[in-house]
Amino acid sequence: MADAPPLQIGLAGFGNVGAGVYKNLVRNRALLKQRTGRDIVVRRIAVRDPAKPRAHALPPDIVTTRLDDLVEDPEIDIVVELIGGTDRALDLVREAIKRDKTVVTGNKALLAEHGLELFALAEAHRTPIYFEAAVAGGIPIIKTVQESLIGNNIQSIHGIINGTSNYILTRMTEAGLSYGEALDEAQQLGYAEADPALDVNGWDAAHKAIILASLSYGCWVKTSDIFVEGIERITGADILFANQLGYVIKLLGVIRLLPGTGSIEVRVQPSLVPRDHILASVKGVYNAILIHGDVVGETLFYGPGAGQDPTSSSVIADIADAAMWEVQAGERNGGFVTHGLYGNPLPVDESVSKYYLRLQVRDEPGVLAQIARTLGDHGIGILSVIQPEEHEEESAPIVLTLHFAAFGVVRAAVGEIASLECVRALPVLMRVESFTA
Ligand code: HSE
Repeated sequence: MADAPPLQIGLAGFGNVGAGVYKNLVRNRALLKQRTGRDIVVRRIAVRDPAKPRAHALPPDIVTTRLDDLVEDPEIDIVVELIGGTDRALDLVREAIKRDKTVVTGNKALLAEHGLELFALAEAHRTPIYFEAAVAGGIPIIKTVQESLIGNNIQSIHGIINGTSNYILTRMTEAGLSYGEALDEAQQLGYAEADPALDVNGWDAAHKAIILASLSYGCWVKTSDIFVEGIERITGADILFANQLGYVIKLLGVIRLLPGTGSIEVRVQPSLVPRDHILASVKGVYNAILIHGDVVGETLFYGPGAGQDPTSSSVIADIADAAMWEVQAGERNGGFVTHGLYGNPLPVDESVSKYYLRLQVRDEPGVLAQIARTLGDHGIGILSVIQPEEHEEESAPIVLTLHFAAFGVVRAAVGEIASLECVRALPVLMRVESFTA
């Protein structure tokens, strides 16, 4: 059989990940050719500003500033979208699909917000979208959920799916760094998004949770249907109290099918994880995803969740997949098949867990009684209370752990507690995770 023609790539974006994809495609070109049967060649690279100083030099002869040059070129087979954001990226991906070009993207925000539209368009054009790099960097979790676990009802997923926030929490826990110092380090190491707000406010993890929920449950969960909190308000004191209680703090994405209801729970919140639980040992930029399937049982996937080389490994896997599909099958898999087997997202106020509550209160008699009474009035049980003997003269922290209760009930009670005269700062409320499947 004659050699298949080279597979021509149009690469949009030459930031941290784009440059990594280019570098590693060149480095492993012979290997990839041997494995896929196609020579994989980057034909064009589109960047906004070619003059910008870069760690990895742009190959000048193939650079353009027009994204349209990628979609208009009939020789380009695959558009690799690594520009991020949801404006220009959306136009580029739409246009690429309309011109029957395969799309590879690592853009979780784009898929979480526009997945419904883009996959319908891809289906209509029989043109695949590959997105392994959109969730958990170098961990091949998309393929795992789509293919390897296809015979399972997914009962639950608990994931540490933002490397930057896990890095920050780890450095605060292990080196006593402040939140700001740890964030600076994460940015210098290239883990954080261009706008780190999405990393620390929980939305980067939320976009990934939406993608995992959608793959698991066969429908696109809306951004407005999930509850998201970030790590910005966590202090060194919370980390120390959690430690005293036997926990570590992690930003967890939780995706669960509620037994017997068909409802699905999707949320991202800082959570206390028991120190002896396997997810507690996931440190630094590493991600881990714990999946319960009704056939397989419990499975854990672990690896680097961000960074140039790990993320480009996933992008290159998608490119290679596309190359092999075209050569071997001639048939195209749209990338996501809506199956709609499951029901509606559970309103977060109905989700049940245990809780950690930190209050800063006036140090005077009767304060603890007022707090306990408010919780009791809402039917919330107290599991434990800590008040350190040593504290500022007039203001003291009180940390409580609370029994299983619906989030809405706890939010209402904490709202009332926040308005008590004796409470001096905004309460900090976190989940205590019990990992029920
Ligand atoms: N900035 C992300 C993270 C990597 O820290 O996990 C890409 O999603």
